[in-house]
Formats: sequence, C-alpha cells, structure tokens
Amino acid sequence: MFVCHIALQGCLTLSDVPYGINADTGGHITYLLELACASARDPSIDRIDIVTRGFTDAQLGRRFEAQCAESRGKIRLIRLDDHDPDYLPKERLHERHDALCAAFLRYLDETGSVPDIIHAHYADAGVLARHAKEQRGIPYIFTGHSLGAVKREVNGGADASLRQRIKIESQALELADAVIASSRDEAEAQYAHYDTIEAGRIRVIPPGCDLTRFQSAVPSEKVRADLDHFLRHPAKPMLLAIARPVRKKNLLALIEAFGADKELRETANLVIVAGCRSLIGDLEQECREVMQELIEAVDRFDLYGKVAYPKNHEQTDIPAYYALARESGGVFVNPALNEPFGLTLLEAAASRLPVVATDSGGPNDIIERCRNGELVCPRDPAAIADACLGIVTDKRKWIRYASAGLDAVSAYDWEAHHDLYHHLIAELIEPSAPMPRWERILCCDIDNTLLGDRDALHEFLHWQADNAGTIALGIATGRSFHSAQAILASEGVPTPDVIISSVGTRIHWYDREARQFREDCDWRRQTESSWRDEQVRALARDLELRPQALLEQHPGKASYFLDGRDPQAIERAFRTAGIAVEIVASHGRYLDILAEGSSKGHAVAYVADRLNLTQSRVVVAGDSGNDLTMLRACPFPILVGNSSDGLAQEPSLSHAYLAKGHFAAGVLEGVRHYQAQGSW
Ligand code: GLC
Ligand code: MG
Repeated sequence: MFVCHIALQGCLTLSDVPYGINADTGGHITYLLELACASARDPSIDRIDIVTRGFTDAQLGRRFEAQCAESRGKIRLIRLDDHDPDYLPKERLHERHDALCAAFLRYLDETGSVPDIIHAHYADAGVLARHAKEQRGIPYIFTGHSLGAVKREVNGGADASLRQRIKIESQALELADAVIASSRDEAEAQYAHYDTIEAGRIRVIPPGCDLTRFQSAVPSEKVRADLDHFLRHPAKPMLLAIARPVRKKNLLALIEAFGADKELRETANLVIVAGCRSLIGDLEQECREVMQELIEAVDRFDLYGKVAYPKNHEQTDIPAYYALARESGGVFVNPALNEPFGLTLLEAAASRLPVVATDSGGPNDIIERCRNGELVCPRDPAAIADACLGIVTDKRKWIRYASAGLDAVSAYDWEAHHDLYHHLIAELIEPSAPMPRWERILCCDIDNTLLGDRDALHEFLHWQADNAGTIALGIATGRSFHSAQAILASEGVPTPDVIISSVGTRIHWYDREARQFREDCDWRRQTESSWRDEQVRALARDLELRPQALLEQHPGKASYFLDGRDPQAIERAFRTAGIAVEIVASHGRYLDILAEGSSKGHAVAYVADRLNLTQSRVVVAGDSGNDLTMLRACPFPILVGNSSDGLAQEPSLSHAYLAKGHFAAGVLEGVRHYQAQGSW
C-alpha cells in the first residue's frame, strides 16, 4: 500500500523539526510524523510520501527549498515548487492553490507509481487532494486538525480570512472519501457546522499518545519543595490543574469552585501549574490578565496556604506533579470551556490519577472509554467542587477511577491507531462488494452484550463471517452513532450493515458501494416530528433530573442520570403534563426520555420493514433496560446470561431465550438455539 500525505503548513522536516519557529510549525507535524513512523512499521505499507510546500527563506535556512527531498526508510518527504520562493503563513497559502495543485499533479505524474490513497492534513492540503481526485481519480482522507468554524464559535464571529478558511474546508470536505476526527465532539458537534460533509463519512480514530513517562511517574523532591513554598498541609489530597493561563482554560472557575466550597477547602489543596513566568508583568496580555485574576481570586477567598501556583517547571517535572497528586489521593481537574482533545487527561490516567473534566470536547470520549473520572459543566463551579469532593472523600470511588485509568494507555497507542487507520484505508480502496440480499437480520446491543468478553466475541465473529452473505448484522445501542462505530472498530467488529444508535432515535445504513454510512433521514424526521424539545427539557428541569453530557442530547433524545429516582413516577409526570414520550431506564443509572415511537423496539421493526423482512426473520440480543422494547417486540429475543435491570424476571419477556453464556457467548448460544429449533 502506498499512502501519500499532504501537509503544506509550517517548516516540515523528517527530523529535528524546528517546533515553535513560527505559529504554523506545531502539533499537526508531531501527529503526522508519529503517524507516518507507526504506519511504516506495518508490513502492509510499502511506501509513504509526505508532500509539503518548498520555500527559500534566508532566516529559516535552505533546507526547506523545493529541490531538497528527504527520506527515512519507507518515508520520503517531497517539497513542491509553486514558483514562489517565499515562506507563506497558512493564512496566505490559498493565494498559491492553483500553482500548488499543478505542482502536485506534476509530482503524481513523475513519481513512478500511483498512491492508493491521499491523506490531506488541514484545509489547503484538502484542496490539492480534491484536485487530484477530480483529475486522477485517487481517493482521499481528510484530517482537519483544527477547524475554522470552531474558531468562529469561540471568537463569536469571523473576519474575511476566517470566512475564506471555512470555505476552503467546506470544499475539501465535500469530496473526501473519509474524514478522520480525533473525538466524538469533533465528529458530532464540530463538523456539524459544515453542510458539505455527511456524518456517515466521519470516523473517530483517537490519536496515539506516548504515555510511557507518565506510567512510571514518581514524585520528585524538586516538585515537593516547589509546593512547600505555598502549602501549609502539603499531604492533603491535591486538586491538580495543568494548563496555560488563557481564558478558555477556565482556571478562574476552578479557584472559585474551590474557594466557595468550605468542605473542599478544608479537605484538599489546589495546585495550578500554569506555564512558566519570571514576572507576571512580562507575560503576553491575555496570560498576564488571567494570572492577575487568579491571584486576586486567591486573595478574595483568602486561600493562602491552600493554593499553589508555582512559577516555573521543566517538562520533566510534569510527570512528578501527577505522581504527587496521586500519592496524596487527589484528582486532576480540567475545567476548560472547550478542550479539543484532552491529552492531559490521558497523562493523568496513565499516572493513575482520577480526573474531573469539562464536558465540552474530547474528554467525553476519554471518560466514556476509560471510566477514570467524571465530566462536569465548566460553567458550573459548584458542580466542579462537588465532583472533586466526591472523589477525594470516597476511597472506593478513588481507587476505581485510579485503576481504570490504565486502560488509556492501551486505548490511545499508535499501534491501535494505525490498525484502525489501515483498516479504514483498506475499506476505501478495496473493490466494492455488491449488496447481498438479506434473508435474516441479527440486531445486537453493544455494551455488555456483544462486548465484554474478547474470546467470546472472537468466536461470535467467526460465526458472523460465515453467515455474512445472508444474515445482516445490525447494532442497536444507547451510544451515539460515532461512539458505536469507534468502539466496534477498536474491538475488531466488522462494519455492521445497519447501526441503530442513541437508544433507537437514529439509524445509519452502510452503503457498500459508496463505502460509507448514510443516515436514514425518514427515520430522523419521524422521530423528530412529535418531539417537543423545550417542554421535555423544562419538565425535566422542574423534576430536578441531572442531565448527562451535552453530546448525549439531541432532538428526540434527552438523557439524564437516574440518581435513585423512580422511572414510573417520571413517566407519570410526563403523562400528566400531556407530553408524549418514552421513558427508558437502564443499569440503575441512566434515564433516557425519547420521542414516542423511537426506542430500539420501534427502530428494529422499521429496519426489518425496510429490508422487506417479516418479524420472524429477526433475532435481537440485549442485556439491560434500554433493550427492553426490542426484546419485548421481537418473537425471537436473546437475553444474555449477564443481563441486568431485572430483565430475566420480567413477565413480558417470558418468550425470550435466557442464555447461560455471558456477553457474545450468550448471543451465539441464543442464535444456535433458534436455528436448531428451526424457527430462524
Ligand atoms: C448510552 C448513552 C446514554 C444513555 C445510555 C442508556 O450510555 O450514551 O446517553 O443514557 O446509553 O441508554
Ligand atoms: Mg447493553
């Protein structure tokens, strides 16, 4: 396989990258080079070309000129000549699009073999990739890295240059065969600003991160000494934040949360590692203002002796901070207004330190995946304080979160990333398969049904592969579409034929010819038509239901935590108010309020109908409360042996096959049972 990356920005080299030399020589280069190196280790990859823009610049040196190619093993770096010798910042690259497109085609024509796939990084590269697809028919993947529309949200508007960037991004997205996002937030919330990309072409593939130095972190005397300057009782549990002092990191809210909560103040210390400074007055304006606000807040709440904000640290001190926080039984806190990915949370996780993090952005995925802490609304200081206190005062919870964190290391490594990445490429370039004529369908829930036991899953997948020509594989899950797709891919489950997601309220079909999922818009219209969003959420507020993260909410689905409430009483309250909804409780923990007629049961019936299959051709498998409607409605339901929410005793499921086997073993057992009986 031959992969050609395009990355036009900054000063890109294969070794000794001059990071920080200018604003465009930053994180995306690390990502690209680490990806290329990991990718090159895979024997299925024969050649990796990285294409960038050549330029001559007296100050930057001559190594970036167009005639200077570099190579390292399977990786080559090629610099395009667009006949303009000057260095151009990313804001001006669009001036050279035509010349760069022409230079890129020249490279493609002269390079000997045709890349199987092009991978464009950032908007301008996407324009070249699109041109190559139009002219030479080569498919391409797009990675946005950071999106203009998000910047527009944060800034509250866009100037001409930002509008231009968003336009270029829209063009790049329009013909992309797939888009790689690093988190659900990026896939579901950020790309929603662009109407040229369908959700079904976006894949969440978390980047790899090298976390080894955090896994082995130990406290250092230097860091202890730095904190002793500030703290009266340094052994108390430490709330640790590590972030640059800029507004969007929201550190002030953390001091206010700490300062306003008496119990938390008595129980814990707060440590804020906010960059390095010699004099606050010398910092650039925003950092200076933020530092001043932080110190004023310490003064206002009289937090002397309880808050530390060390002046300087080396990069090598950071693991020691995490380790010291862990030793104290503390938590890592990231209260940012939006956190695109959340690398610090992974560092904390690898250091076995529980986390409390903003519910806006990448942290959602990390916590969903690693279950190493809690999400909070960054604009709610009381919620931040409650979550921190809840963890530092509950030893069992602390241990649960601390030990769960180690999963981060395996979930976010480069090997896992390139496995998924190469799978995606293979899916995009392999000859397309004709759509089978389905005779039957098996619809499975994900968590605690299909997933939970890897060996059992393996055996199930063997059976599934043997039957894939006639039995459609359907998924019916509480997770969102992107979350479902990402977890299935990372567990090695082949692309399902249909995904019913968000507890039934969304349906996506896999189109084998186009190699992408397409949302079932009729179903969405149907679920949204009767939904009265404002009334539902207002009543939920009156009932004091605690909402789940923002990403779990959309028209047709309002999700909360059960917190020991009686679902039937909630159902009555909605009925009395004349709001038609379905109430679904699961795992004694979650409460979903769904548009009437859009839970999993209805969605499975709709899917079978679309496939022209009668109900007797459908088998469903599940484990918990949110599977109840589909298990009840289907004549051949399987309840896996590890079921919960009292489903095994549920009178309306007396027709279900109660498997002895757990997880996927239970599913397979049930399928074989119905097949042996001759009923399916
Ligand atoms: C998944 C969803 C959540 C829902 C739960 C139970 O975890 O993410 O929103 O409440 O399933 O259906
Ligand atoms: Mg489940």
